[in-house]
Amino acid sequence: MSPARMTLSSMTLTRHIMETQKHFPFATGEFSDLLNHIALAGKIINREVNKAGLTQFLGLTGESNVQGEDVQMLDDWANNVMIRVLSRSQRVCIMASEEVADVIPVPDDLISGRYSVCFDPLDGSSNIDANVSIGTIFSVYRRDDDDGPGTEADVLRPGTEQVAAGYILYGSSSIFVYTAGGGVNGFTLDPSVGEFLLSHPDIQMPEQGRIYSVNEQNYHYWYDHTRRYVDWVKSIDKETKRPYSSRYIGSLVSDFHRNLLYGGIFLYPEDKKDPKRPHGKLRLLYEANPLAFIAEQAGGAASTGTERIMEIDPEYLHQRVPLIIGCAKNVADYEEFVAGTR
Ligand code: AHG
Ligand code: MN
Ligand code: MN
Repeated sequence: MSPARMTLSSMTLTRHIMETQKHFPFATGEFSDLLNHIALAGKIINREVNKAGLTQFLGLTGESNVQGEDVQMLDDWANNVMIRVLSRSQRVCIMASEEVADVIPVPDDLISGRYSVCFDPLDGSSNIDANVSIGTIFSVYRRDDDDGPGTEADVLRPGTEQVAAGYILYGSSSIFVYTAGGGVNGFTLDPSVGEFLLSHPDIQMPEQGRIYSVNEQNYHYWYDHTRRYVDWVKSIDKETKRPYSSRYIGSLVSDFHRNLLYGGIFLYPEDKKDPKRPHGKLRLLYEANPLAFIAEQAGGAASTGTERIMEIDPEYLHQRVPLIIGCAKNVADYEEFVAGTR
């Protein structure tokens, strides 16, 4: 194996976090320790996801969550893993989970810290039984002081205040992708040593991509600007004489990860499908914001179509927003259709 390959495969996530944290003013090791706890939770979830077919974890719990969605057994279990590991990390003061109606405090008998973590314990979970890639998405904030228990205010913060964000994708291989504001790096899990090893250093999105990812079943519910944009990307492209490729997995973290590496745009726009859900399906705190941080750090963009995702001031925990995310040029094209200049 060439020395370069050897170098890449010996850089563990733990060492990478420590190396990058040296350049951060508030690096006290607590942040590195927090990220390592998130990685631990990812390894535990990965272990069960990879053999879900062999355990009692397939199928539904029969409950529905705060989103009004059916809860998969693995959703529930992954949610408990995230809460248990983060509560015992001594680095967290409050959590917010897609699966829990209110913020989740750290129990009084455990030591809390100065970080808040919002997470989607299992994204794309309707695909679990079909063995389609799913993932855990996380967003991290840091409070300036560490007195008093965490509150909802510690998570209702704009995405620009995130100190880290990322996801663990449980797929053909499992990969931990994160940013702490100094670029985006991907680490593939080597199960033989139980370590995430640097496999995708300094990920950069191309300026423009040719993949569009949207659930076209919603076409008749879309506003006119979204219909015109999708019609446009499907039309013959003058320079290359071929339209874009359509790819839609139905698991945000998988669709996003493919576009991050290959280039492209993912859209879950607002639509007229459900008056209770005028702003589309995806949630700001633990889906849009963390992926927006990753996208921007990789040279891409994330917008509602009119507003930068990371500048939205959250009003409530499970707030939904339209999400248009991917290569900067592709997102800019969509914004022009919304503005009516195209
Ligand atoms: P979750 O499994 O966390 O509820 O998220 C599912 C989301 C997201 O992963 C995906 O992009 C979207 O739902 C798919 O929605 P549609 O089936 O409406 O396209
Ligand atoms: Mn999700
Ligand atoms: Mn989920």
